[in-house]
Amino acid sequence: MRYSDIDWNRLWQEAFEQKSWKKKKKKDWDNRASGFAKRNIDSSYADLFLKLMEPDPSWNVLDVGCGPGTLALPLASRVKSVTAVDFSASMLAELEKRKEKENIANVIPLQASWTDDWQKRGIPVHDVALSSRSLSVFDLQAALTKLNKWATKKVFIADRVGSGPFDPDIFAALGRKFDPGPDYIVTVNLLYKMGIHPRIDYIELDQSKTFSNKEEALASCQWMFDDLSDREKANLTAYVNERLIKKENGWELTRRSPVKWAFISWEK
Ligand SMILES: C[S@@+](CC[C@H](N)C(=O)[O-])C[C@H]1O[C@@H](n2cnc3c(N)ncnc32)[C@H](O)[C@@H]1O
Repeated sequence: MRYSDIDWNRLWQEAFEQKSWKKKKKKDWDNRASGFAKRNIDSSYADLFLKLMEPDPSWNVLDVGCGPGTLALPLASRVKSVTAVDFSASMLAELEKRKEKENIANVIPLQASWTDDWQKRGIPVHDVALSSRSLSVFDLQAALTKLNKWATKKVFIADRVGSGPFDPDIFAALGRKFDPGPDYIVTVNLLYKMGIHPRIDYIELDQSKTFSNKEEALASCQWMFDDLSDREKANLTAYVNERLIKKENGWELTRRSPVKWAFISWEK
Protein backbone atom coordinates (compact mmCIF):
# COMPACT_ATOMS: atom_id res chain seq x y z
CA MET A 1 0.00 0.00 0.00
CA ARG A 2 1.26 3.49 -0.82
CA TYR A 3 0.47 6.69 1.06
CA SER A 4 -0.88 8.17 -2.15
CA ASP A 5 -3.49 5.38 -2.31
CA ILE A 6 -5.25 6.67 0.79
CA ASP A 7 -8.38 8.65 0.02
CA TRP A 8 -8.39 10.93 3.08
CA ASN A 9 -11.63 12.63 2.12
CA ARG A 10 -13.40 9.27 1.90
CA LEU A 11 -11.82 8.15 5.15
CA TRP A 12 -13.14 11.36 6.74
CA GLN A 13 -16.61 10.86 5.25
CA GLU A 14 -16.91 7.26 6.41
CA ALA A 15 -15.72 8.09 9.95
CA PHE A 16 -18.02 11.14 9.95
CA GLU A 17 -21.02 8.90 9.32
CA GLN A 18 -20.12 6.62 12.23
CA LYS A 19 -19.47 9.15 14.97
CA SER A 20 -21.61 9.11 18.10
CA TRP A 21 -23.43 12.36 17.55
CA LYS A 22 -25.57 13.11 14.56
CA LYS A 23 -24.61 15.77 12.04
CA LYS A 24 -26.15 19.03 13.14
CA LYS A 25 -28.40 20.89 10.79
CA LYS A 26 -28.97 24.63 10.73
CA LYS A 27 -31.95 24.21 13.05
CA ASP A 28 -29.87 22.25 15.60
CA TRP A 29 -27.27 25.04 15.71
CA ASP A 30 -30.09 27.61 15.99
CA ASN A 31 -31.38 25.77 19.06
CA ARG A 32 -27.93 25.70 20.59
CA ALA A 33 -27.02 29.32 19.89
CA SER A 34 -27.93 30.92 23.21
CA GLY A 35 -26.35 28.18 25.37
CA PHE A 36 -23.27 28.07 23.13
CA ALA A 37 -22.86 31.85 23.41
CA LYS A 38 -23.11 31.72 27.21
CA ARG A 39 -20.49 28.99 27.47
CA ASN A 40 -18.06 30.32 24.87
CA ILE A 41 -18.03 34.09 24.80
CA ASP A 42 -15.19 35.26 27.06
CA SER A 43 -13.74 31.74 27.19
CA SER A 44 -10.05 31.07 27.72
CA TYR A 45 -10.21 29.24 24.36
CA ALA A 46 -10.52 32.54 22.45
CA ASP A 47 -7.54 34.05 24.32
CA LEU A 48 -5.37 31.03 23.54
CA PHE A 49 -6.42 31.02 19.87
CA LEU A 50 -5.65 34.74 19.47
CA LYS A 51 -2.27 34.35 21.18
CA LEU A 52 -1.23 31.73 18.62
CA MET A 53 -2.79 33.68 15.74
CA GLU A 54 -0.88 36.92 16.44
CA PRO A 55 -3.34 39.14 14.53
CA ASP A 56 -1.98 42.03 12.48
CA PRO A 57 -3.83 45.39 12.50
CA SER A 58 -3.74 45.49 8.68
CA TRP A 59 -5.70 42.25 8.18
CA ASN A 60 -9.20 41.72 6.79
CA VAL A 61 -10.33 38.42 8.30
CA LEU A 62 -12.95 35.94 7.09
CA ASP A 63 -14.28 33.85 10.01
CA VAL A 64 -16.26 30.87 8.67
CA GLY A 65 -18.63 29.18 11.13
CA CYS A 66 -18.13 32.14 13.45
CA GLY A 67 -20.91 31.11 15.87
CA PRO A 68 -21.80 33.85 18.37
CA GLY A 69 -18.57 35.67 17.60
CA THR A 70 -16.24 33.75 19.93
CA LEU A 71 -13.29 34.98 17.86
CA ALA A 72 -14.79 37.57 15.51
CA LEU A 73 -15.68 39.95 18.37
CA PRO A 74 -12.38 39.91 20.32
CA LEU A 75 -10.54 40.06 16.96
CA ALA A 76 -12.31 43.29 16.01
CA SER A 77 -10.02 45.61 18.00
CA ARG A 78 -6.90 43.87 16.71
CA VAL A 79 -7.49 43.77 12.94
CA LYS A 80 -8.94 46.05 10.27
CA SER A 81 -12.21 44.15 9.82
CA VAL A 82 -13.87 40.76 10.24
CA THR A 83 -16.47 39.15 7.97
CA ALA A 84 -18.31 36.76 10.29
CA VAL A 85 -20.00 33.95 8.34
CA ASP A 86 -22.37 31.36 9.76
CA PHE A 87 -25.38 29.47 8.39
CA SER A 88 -27.28 29.76 11.69
CA ALA A 89 -29.38 32.92 12.00
CA SER A 90 -29.58 32.47 15.78
CA MET A 91 -25.80 32.30 16.14
CA LEU A 92 -25.53 35.52 14.13
CA ALA A 93 -28.25 37.10 16.29
CA GLU A 94 -26.13 36.33 19.38
CA LEU A 95 -23.17 37.94 17.63
CA GLU A 96 -25.24 41.03 16.73
CA LYS A 97 -26.42 41.43 20.36
CA ARG A 98 -22.89 41.51 21.64
CA LYS A 99 -21.60 43.63 18.75
CA GLU A 100 -24.20 46.27 19.56
CA LYS A 101 -23.58 46.13 23.30
CA GLU A 102 -19.85 46.65 22.78
CA ASN A 103 -20.29 49.17 19.98
CA ILE A 104 -18.17 47.22 17.51
CA ALA A 105 -18.36 48.59 13.98
CA ASN A 106 -15.87 46.50 12.00
CA VAL A 107 -17.49 43.06 12.27
CA ILE A 108 -19.77 42.30 9.34
CA PRO A 109 -22.11 39.33 9.92
CA LEU A 110 -23.18 37.31 6.89
CA GLN A 111 -25.51 34.33 6.78
CA ALA A 112 -24.01 31.71 4.45
CA SER A 113 -23.01 28.07 4.45
CA TRP A 114 -19.76 26.24 3.71
CA THR A 115 -21.57 24.72 0.73
CA ASP A 116 -22.91 27.97 -0.78
CA ASP A 117 -21.29 29.46 -3.85
CA TRP A 118 -19.28 32.13 -2.03
CA GLN A 119 -18.55 34.01 -5.24
CA LYS A 120 -22.26 34.29 -6.04
CA ARG A 121 -22.92 35.27 -2.41
CA GLY A 122 -20.47 38.15 -2.90
CA ILE A 123 -17.97 37.01 -0.26
CA PRO A 124 -14.68 38.66 -1.25
CA VAL A 125 -11.26 37.10 -0.85
CA HIS A 126 -9.71 38.27 2.44
CA ASP A 127 -6.13 38.60 3.73
CA VAL A 128 -6.81 35.87 6.26
CA ALA A 129 -9.39 33.07 6.48
CA LEU A 130 -10.14 31.14 9.64
CA SER A 131 -12.33 28.27 10.74
CA SER A 132 -12.52 27.69 14.46
CA ARG A 133 -14.14 24.41 15.57
CA SER A 134 -16.44 24.67 12.57
CA LEU A 135 -15.16 22.03 10.15
CA SER A 136 -18.01 19.68 10.91
CA VAL A 137 -18.67 19.22 7.19
CA PHE A 138 -19.16 16.12 5.08
CA ASP A 139 -16.90 17.25 2.23
CA LEU A 140 -13.80 18.31 4.13
CA GLN A 141 -11.64 18.64 1.04
CA ALA A 142 -14.07 21.07 -0.57
CA ALA A 143 -14.17 23.18 2.62
CA LEU A 144 -10.37 23.28 2.94
CA THR A 145 -9.96 24.16 -0.72
CA LYS A 146 -12.42 27.01 -0.33
CA LEU A 147 -10.85 28.38 2.84
CA ASN A 148 -7.41 28.30 1.20
CA LYS A 149 -8.73 30.05 -1.90
CA TRP A 150 -10.44 32.80 0.08
CA ALA A 151 -7.22 33.95 1.80
CA THR A 152 -4.26 35.79 0.31
CA LYS A 153 -1.95 35.79 3.34
CA LYS A 154 -2.72 33.21 5.99
CA VAL A 155 -5.18 30.49 7.00
CA PHE A 156 -5.95 29.37 10.55
CA ILE A 157 -7.97 26.31 11.59
CA ALA A 158 -8.83 24.94 15.02
CA ASP A 159 -9.74 21.28 14.75
CA ARG A 160 -10.68 18.64 17.31
CA VAL A 161 -8.02 16.36 18.81
CA GLY A 162 -9.57 13.02 19.80
CA SER A 163 -12.69 13.53 21.87
CA GLY A 164 -12.17 17.33 21.89
CA PRO A 165 -14.88 19.02 23.95
CA PHE A 166 -16.82 15.76 24.43
CA ASP A 167 -16.20 13.90 27.68
CA PRO A 168 -15.99 10.12 27.14
CA ASP A 169 -16.60 9.54 30.89
CA ILE A 170 -20.04 11.12 30.61
CA PHE A 171 -20.99 8.93 27.65
CA ALA A 172 -19.83 5.90 29.67
CA ALA A 173 -21.80 7.04 32.73
CA LEU A 174 -24.95 7.18 30.60
CA GLY A 175 -24.19 3.78 29.04
CA ARG A 176 -23.78 5.33 25.61
CA LYS A 177 -21.27 4.28 22.98
CA PHE A 178 -18.70 6.93 22.23
CA ASP A 179 -17.05 7.34 18.86
CA PRO A 180 -15.58 10.83 18.50
CA GLY A 181 -15.42 10.66 14.71
CA PRO A 182 -12.51 11.81 12.57
CA ASP A 183 -10.18 14.44 14.01
CA TYR A 184 -7.45 16.90 12.97
CA ILE A 185 -5.03 14.26 11.70
CA VAL A 186 -7.27 13.66 8.68
CA THR A 187 -7.33 17.41 8.02
CA VAL A 188 -3.53 17.56 8.17
CA ASN A 189 -3.19 14.63 5.76
CA LEU A 190 -5.68 16.17 3.36
CA LEU A 191 -3.74 19.43 3.42
CA TYR A 192 -0.53 17.51 2.76
CA LYS A 193 -2.16 15.93 -0.29
CA MET A 194 -3.18 19.40 -1.40
CA GLY A 195 0.51 20.41 -1.26
CA ILE A 196 0.10 22.39 1.96
CA HIS A 197 2.50 21.75 4.85
CA PRO A 198 0.90 23.46 7.82
CA ARG A 199 2.31 24.39 11.17
CA ILE A 200 0.56 22.59 14.04
CA ASP A 201 0.21 23.90 17.58
CA TYR A 202 -2.19 22.80 20.27
CA ILE A 203 -4.69 24.56 22.47
CA GLU A 204 -5.32 22.72 25.71
CA LEU A 205 -7.99 23.93 28.09
CA ASP A 206 -8.04 23.49 31.88
CA GLN A 207 -9.59 20.23 33.03
CA SER A 208 -11.27 21.98 35.95
CA LYS A 209 -13.84 24.71 35.56
CA THR A 210 -15.66 26.74 38.19
CA PHE A 211 -19.34 27.52 37.76
CA SER A 212 -21.41 30.02 39.71
CA ASN A 213 -24.15 27.44 40.31
CA LYS A 214 -24.98 23.75 39.82
CA GLU A 215 -27.28 24.42 36.85
CA GLU A 216 -24.44 26.02 34.90
CA ALA A 217 -22.22 23.03 35.65
CA LEU A 218 -24.94 20.68 34.40
CA ALA A 219 -25.40 22.74 31.23
CA SER A 220 -21.66 22.44 30.55
CA CYS A 221 -22.21 18.66 30.17
CA GLN A 222 -25.76 18.48 28.83
CA TRP A 223 -24.94 20.24 25.54
CA MET A 224 -23.17 17.04 24.41
CA PHE A 225 -26.55 15.37 23.89
CA ASP A 226 -29.58 16.56 21.97
CA ASP A 227 -31.83 13.66 22.88
CA LEU A 228 -31.59 12.72 26.56
CA SER A 229 -34.42 10.66 28.03
CA ASP A 230 -35.75 11.71 31.46
CA ARG A 231 -33.86 8.83 33.02
CA GLU A 232 -30.60 9.84 31.32
CA LYS A 233 -31.14 13.43 32.45
CA ALA A 234 -31.49 12.22 36.03
CA ASN A 235 -28.34 10.08 35.66
CA LEU A 236 -26.40 12.99 34.23
CA THR A 237 -27.54 15.26 37.07
CA ALA A 238 -26.44 12.64 39.62
CA TYR A 239 -23.09 12.25 37.80
CA VAL A 240 -22.43 15.98 37.87
CA ASN A 241 -23.58 16.45 41.48
CA GLU A 242 -21.28 13.66 42.65
CA ARG A 243 -18.27 15.37 41.09
CA LEU A 244 -18.95 18.99 41.97
CA ILE A 245 -16.71 20.45 44.65
CA LYS A 246 -17.80 23.56 46.53
CA LYS A 247 -15.24 26.35 46.32
CA GLU A 248 -15.23 29.89 47.69
CA ASN A 249 -16.17 31.33 44.30
CA GLY A 250 -18.61 28.63 43.12
CA TRP A 251 -18.69 24.97 42.11
CA GLU A 252 -15.72 23.24 40.53
CA LEU A 253 -16.10 20.39 38.05
CA THR A 254 -13.07 18.43 36.85
CA ARG A 255 -12.94 16.07 33.88
CA ARG A 256 -10.31 13.38 33.38
CA SER A 257 -9.71 13.98 29.69
CA PRO A 258 -8.36 17.38 28.66
CA VAL A 259 -10.13 19.39 25.98
CA LYS A 260 -7.55 19.72 23.24
CA TRP A 261 -7.69 21.46 19.85
CA ALA A 262 -5.13 21.42 17.05
CA PHE A 263 -4.25 24.90 15.84
CA ILE A 264 -3.36 24.45 12.18
CA SER A 265 -1.96 27.35 10.18
CA TRP A 266 -0.18 28.09 6.95
CA GLU A 267 0.98 31.00 4.83
CA LYS A 268 -0.22 31.46 1.30
C1 LIG B 1 -18.81 24.68 17.41
S1 LIG B 1 -19.44 26.13 16.68
C2 LIG B 1 -17.97 27.14 16.60
C3 LIG B 1 -18.26 28.60 16.69
C4 LIG B 1 -17.00 29.48 16.79
N1 LIG B 1 -16.23 29.47 15.58
C5 LIG B 1 -16.16 29.06 17.98
O1 LIG B 1 -15.05 28.56 17.80
O2 LIG B 1 -16.66 29.19 19.10
C6 LIG B 1 -19.69 25.66 15.00
C7 LIG B 1 -20.36 26.75 14.20
O3 LIG B 1 -20.31 26.35 12.82
C8 LIG B 1 -21.56 26.68 12.24
N2 LIG B 1 -21.76 25.79 11.08
C9 LIG B 1 -21.94 24.45 11.11
N3 LIG B 1 -22.11 23.98 9.86
C10 LIG B 1 -22.03 25.06 9.03
C11 LIG B 1 -22.15 25.23 7.62
N4 LIG B 1 -22.39 24.19 6.82
N5 LIG B 1 -22.00 26.47 7.11
C12 LIG B 1 -21.77 27.55 7.93
N6 LIG B 1 -21.67 27.45 9.27
C13 LIG B 1 -21.80 26.22 9.82
C14 LIG B 1 -22.58 26.47 13.33
O4 LIG B 1 -23.77 27.18 13.12
C15 LIG B 1 -21.82 26.97 14.56
O5 LIG B 1 -22.05 28.33 14.78
